[in-house]
Order: sequence, then structure tokens, then C-alpha cells
Amino acid sequence: MWFFVRSSVLMLMLSCSIVVEHNGTSEATTKIKQTVSSIRNDLRNRVGNRTRLQSNKTHGLQPGDPSSVRFLVFGDWGGIPFYPYSTVIQRRTAKRMASFASRKEVQFILALGDNFYFTGVRDVDDRRFQRTFEEVYSDGSMRIPWYVIAGNHDHDGNVSAQIAYSKVSNRWIFPDYYYSQTFEIPGTDNDTLDVFMLDTVLICGKTDGSEDDQPNPQTRSKNYSKQFRWLIAELEKSKAKYILVAGHYPIYSACSHGTTDCLVSEMVPILQKYKVNAYLAGHDHDLQHIRPDLGAGNWTVEYFVSGATNFINPSLIHKRTLPKDSLRFAWASLFSYGGFSYMEVGKQKMTMQMYSTAGILLHEHDMPPRF
Ligand SMILES: *[C@@H]1O[C@H](CO)[C@@H](O)[C@H](O)[C@H]1NC(C)=O
Ligand SMILES: *[C@@H]1O[C@H](CO)[C@@H](O)[C@H](O)[C@H]1NC(C)=O
Ligand SMILES: *[C@@H]1O[C@H](CO)[C@@H](O)[C@H](O)[C@H]1NC(C)=O
Ligand SMILES: *[C@@H]1O[C@H](CO)[C@@H](O)[C@H](O)[C@H]1NC(C)=O
Ligand SMILES: *[C@@H]1O[C@H](CO)[C@@H](O)[C@H](O)[C@H]1NC(C)=O
Ligand SMILES: *[C@@H]1O[C@H](CO)[C@@H](O)[C@H](O)[C@H]1NC(C)=O
Repeated sequence: MWFFVRSSVLMLMLSCSIVVEHNGTSEATTKIKQTVSSIRNDLRNRVGNRTRLQSNKTHGLQPGDPSSVRFLVFGDWGGIPFYPYSTVIQRRTAKRMASFASRKEVQFILALGDNFYFTGVRDVDDRRFQRTFEEVYSDGSMRIPWYVIAGNHDHDGNVSAQIAYSKVSNRWIFPDYYYSQTFEIPGTDNDTLDVFMLDTVLICGKTDGSEDDQPNPQTRSKNYSKQFRWLIAELEKSKAKYILVAGHYPIYSACSHGTTDCLVSEMVPILQKYKVNAYLAGHDHDLQHIRPDLGAGNWTVEYFVSGATNFINPSLIHKRTLPKDSLRFAWASLFSYGGFSYMEVGKQKMTMQMYSTAGILLHEHDMPPRF
């Protein structure tokens, strides 16, 4: 929230400077410009290099490979609980993702929780479904399946109502607290991508919403181990070329909420054992790629965080707590409107790309099939 207020003040100042410029009072303009620039530098010093990360404008936007599975990944998109029920960042990201989805012919979306800030929805008729979801993502290219899971903020409301909304909207797919989905990779001999959508709030408990807080184990589901048993049984059966596991809480994170200890101890061994390609999460409001190096001979699981579609938080306060040298990429710029992730899964490789809402490719990583 602190960053949000601060960035709004900055935006105000920036727009002031533009107005003054138009009026031609150059002395005032210079002064305001200097002030803005000094605040900007001050912020850069505090949050490190992140706002200056090398962009790749030359990349352009190629159409998606038609013989691939193509989808967007993002969490933490859920607006605000008062008028206009969406943030500027959410609306801008929605617009960019819509044009992006149209160019790439994106087939579906993985929506990783915190769908409705700050306390979820009341019931299936809650107007937030219209205001924060339908009206914001109204473009045709976003009228594709949304595979949804709940975040901690959704658990402060009625998650069964979000599950029930699957019967109201034909793009909202939320069959249960946790579920899996198989996608066939076109142009292959039945090669598939398996995606496991988990409810990590049931597994680890709720957080009180403050910075730095671990989920409270008192509030974890009493039968959370049933979800683990289900995941293990499904992974055991899976013949997929690629496997993604997704949950709202990150396993590792450098940002303000940090690593989720409960998942490190209980989930990491499972991901390693069953050669999961990557774990996808939201919860922290930035883009991250974390990759602990377990040495040659050990399977590498990639950890991605994509939670910058509604709020932005450039903190790197938990960087020290990550496995040594594991932070490959982190980005959250207060001078942006956030960002999102895109994945393309083909016969030879699975690619993760992270984009800013300005449409700049910030980070890219290829992953090999499991076998
Ligand atoms: C800033 O980025 C440069 C180049 O990527 C790196 O060498 C330097 O260590 C970074 N500085 C900080 C404070 O992170
Ligand atoms: C930009 O991205 C493309 C595609 O990933 C890559 O081939 C190119 O080398 C990149 N250019 C720069 C300047 O990083
Ligand atoms: C949750 O939503 C469902 C569907 O609208 C409704 O039947 C149920 O009563 C709600 N639960 C609570 C506790 O309000
Ligand atoms: C792919 O699946 C179809 C339908 O289930 C089956 O008939 C075919 O034999 C499979 N192909 C291979 C190479 O496994
Ligand atoms: C846990 O058990 C309750 C009651 O037995 C059931 O309603 C709920 O679906 C179960 N939750 C999970 C995550 O299995
Ligand atoms: C694989 O990882 C485990 C756990 O971190 C470690 O004990 C083991 O030495 C690693 N194996 C190799 C071949 O590096």
C-alpha cells in the first residue's frame, strides 16, 4: 500500500510537469523535472537496478508458433473493493494482454489467485464478478478459458461462490479448490502438458496480509494432506512431456512476502522427484525467476512469480533468504503499469517470457521436456 500511495504521488507530480510544460513556463518545468528526477534517483538507489533493467524493444512481437500451446500466467489481478473496482494498473495490463493475446493467439489463461481484493466475493451474485472481472477483461481475445485458483484474499470471502461462478460464466473454469488440466501439444504424437492447479492457502494457511508474514498453520485445512496425496498420485500417473504446478503462494520469493517455508519443506521434494518443469505463483507483486542450482545430475525446477497485474511492489527484502545465487531475474518498476507472463509449449521446448505492460520483453527462459 505504501508503494501504491507513493507511486500515485509521483504520477501526480509527473503529470503536473507535463501540464506545466504545455503552458510553457520553462523555469517551473525545470524545477519540477529536477525534483521528479531526484525522487526517481532516490528510489532507484533504494530498490536497486530494477527500474533500469535492460529492455529488449528490438524483439518485436512475433505471432505465436501455431504448433504450440500458448497461455498467459498472472495472479493478484483482483482490483479494489470500491469504485471503480479496478486499478489503473489492472486496466492497463488488461489492455496490453488483450492485444498481446490477439497477436499470439493465446488459448487460455492461468489466473493464480487474489482474484478479488481484499476479501473475495460474498456470493455468486456478487457484482465484483462484473466490475473486477467481466468488464475489465472484456476484449474478445481475453474471452478464452480462465483456469482459476483462489488466493489468500479470496479465502477471506466465499471461495465456493467463485467455484459456483463456473456455471455462470463460460470462460471461468474453477471446478474445485484444486484440479488438473491436460493440454495436447499440436503436431506431436499425443505429447501433453499437464498443469496442476493447487490451493496453497488450504495447504499452508492464511496470512494476515502484512509484509513478511508466513501463512498461519492454525488456519490450514485440516485435511490438507489429502491435497498432497492427490498431487502425488496424479504426478505418479502423468505421462506428460511437460508438467507445471501452480499455486497462489510462491515457494521461493525475494519480494516482500518472501519464501513460503511450509512449501519449501513439503512441496520442493515432490517437484524434484517427479521432474516438474516449473512452479508458478503470484502473491508477491512483481515478476521473478528463481532457480536453485542443485548440481549436475539433479533435476532443475524453475520457480516463477507473476503477480504484477494490479499492484506493484519493487521490494527485494528477502533476496538474502533465497538459495545461493538462485535469483535469475526480478522486476517491478514503479514507473510502469506492471507486467505479466506468457508461456509457449512446443515439441522441443517450453518457453517462459515476462513482459512489462509497455510490451517490452524483460526476461525469457527455455525449459527442456521431462524426457
Ligand atoms: C546493477 O546491475 C549491474 C549490471 O547488471 C551489476 O553489475 C550491479 O552489481 C548491479 N548493482 C546492484 C546494486 O544490484
Ligand atoms: C532481443 O530478443 C531477441 C529474441 O529473444 C534476441 O534474439 C536478441 O538478441 C535480443 N536483443 C537484445 C539487444 O537483447
Ligand atoms: C457462498 O456462496 C454460495 C453461492 O452463492 C452460497 O450458496 C453460500 O450461501 C455462500 N456462503 C456464505 C457463507 O455466504
Ligand atoms: C494418440 O492418441 C490416439 C487417440 O487416443 C491414438 O489412437 C493414437 O494411437 C495415439 N498415438 C500415439 C503415437 O500414441
Ligand atoms: C476437507 O474435508 C471437508 C469435510 O470432510 C470437505 O468438505 C473438504 O472438501 C475437504 N477439503 C479438501 C481440500 O480435501
Ligand atoms: C542433489 O540435491 C541433493 C539435495 O540438495 C543433494 O544432497 C545432492 O548432493 C545433489 N546431487 C548432486 C549429484 O549434485
